[in-house]
Amino acid sequence: MVNTAEGEISREIFVNDELFEQEKERIFTRAWLYVGHESQIKKPGDFFVSKMGAESVILTRDFAGKIHVFLNSCAHRGMRVCRYDEGNTRAFRCPYHAWTYKTDGTLIGVQDYDNAYQPPFDKSEWGLVEVAQLANYMGTIWATWDKNAPSFEEYLGEATIAFDQGLCAWDGGDGGTELLGSVQKWIVPCNWKFVAENFAGDWLHGVSHRSVDMIRLGPSGEVGRRDDFGRLVVTAYPDGHGILYSVYPNKKTRTEYAMSPETSEYFQYCWERRLKNLGETAGTCPLVGTIFPNMSFHAQQPRTLLVSHPTGANETEMWRTYFVDKEAPEDVKQFLREYYMRYSGPAGMTEQDDMENWNYASAASRGTIARRRPYHYKAGLGVGGPHDDLPGVVTEQPITTEQNPRFFYKRWADYMDMDSWGELLDARTVSSQG
Ligand SMILES: [Fe+2]
Repeated sequence: MVNTAEGEISREIFVNDELFEQEKERIFTRAWLYVGHESQIKKPGDFFVSKMGAESVILTRDFAGKIHVFLNSCAHRGMRVCRYDEGNTRAFRCPYHAWTYKTDGTLIGVQDYDNAYQPPFDKSEWGLVEVAQLANYMGTIWATWDKNAPSFEEYLGEATIAFDQGLCAWDGGDGGTELLGSVQKWIVPCNWKFVAENFAGDWLHGVSHRSVDMIRLGPSGEVGRRDDFGRLVVTAYPDGHGILYSVYPNKKTRTEYAMSPETSEYFQYCWERRLKNLGETAGTCPLVGTIFPNMSFHAQQPRTLLVSHPTGANETEMWRTYFVDKEAPEDVKQFLREYYMRYSGPAGMTEQDDMENWNYASAASRGTIARRRPYHYKAGLGVGGPHDDLPGVVTEQPITTEQNPRFFYKRWADYMDMDSWGELLDARTVSSQG
């Protein structure tokens, strides 16, 4: 079904309910998944209810300060032990039969424990189910259910260079970032892979956003562009991740935020510091990327993070989070809040363009006749290769390519076919297909 050598991929993997059930097992119980941001659980007892694949999980900080991720399901009868989106609590008390768990997941309360259970059962064996591995990467919290998965750093591999830039401050330094508000959540009637593929570096769909460019939606306020994208370069990795970069050679000024004097001044200041902080690499800016399987990020304008949580073969829950520099002036944060909302999220015009494509493409691919024909991913077949400045398999403008989706689906097929992490890690060395 996935023939990346020829650039043909069966529509079944986007519409088939049985394959979706297999994905939940083979991909979402094994891969590292983004769960939330450390700033969402600053204090002991803070929690944020998230998802891993189709399942609800609780991200929380216990009273010793340690971060945990638990399955949000009571050990007694499976009830959601936490029914709120976020908050702070001393303990998670199940609303069904009142089994109660500490924020470190241990079971501490069972109704009529002394009388009803003779001999008494061992409560330490009936705590909340906890993930096998957890990583805090520059404030982002990741987890996997698989104890045999490699470390998160190894999993991220060479995509780390782009992802680091997406998470750090605009000037490329280590000043902190913070969330604007909380998470926007909404549902799209499409397969989750449409979303992951789009942000892995599909620059060809820019044509969909023409109306947005024409109404001067971008922060520059100029007609005909959301941003000065520089020269576009895509990089793909055998781990399934894909990044789209903008390269601005020798550029001294940035005009993207010219719409208001405050933002214009702040971003010019950031750009000058970035040139100092990052030297020659300052002009190589990651724009968007997808970390396999379903976490996508925008690293520049806007700077956001999106998880496309799968809920069905034809339904995806979108969770988008927005970042700003902690030290940015208030009026800059306010400008960005409004800009982000009109760019991304359910009300964002650029996101609406994308959702319309994914929605109609999904619906028009589900038919009996439609399913007989594969999708076409042949652009730039065999072109990508090594690059002087960037790791991975690289293709630059003006060559048109779909190499990043090909790498993504090759990795998807690896997970679906291969039973062990040994095989999955070995498969990464087959990486020169372009
Ligand atoms: Fe788009």
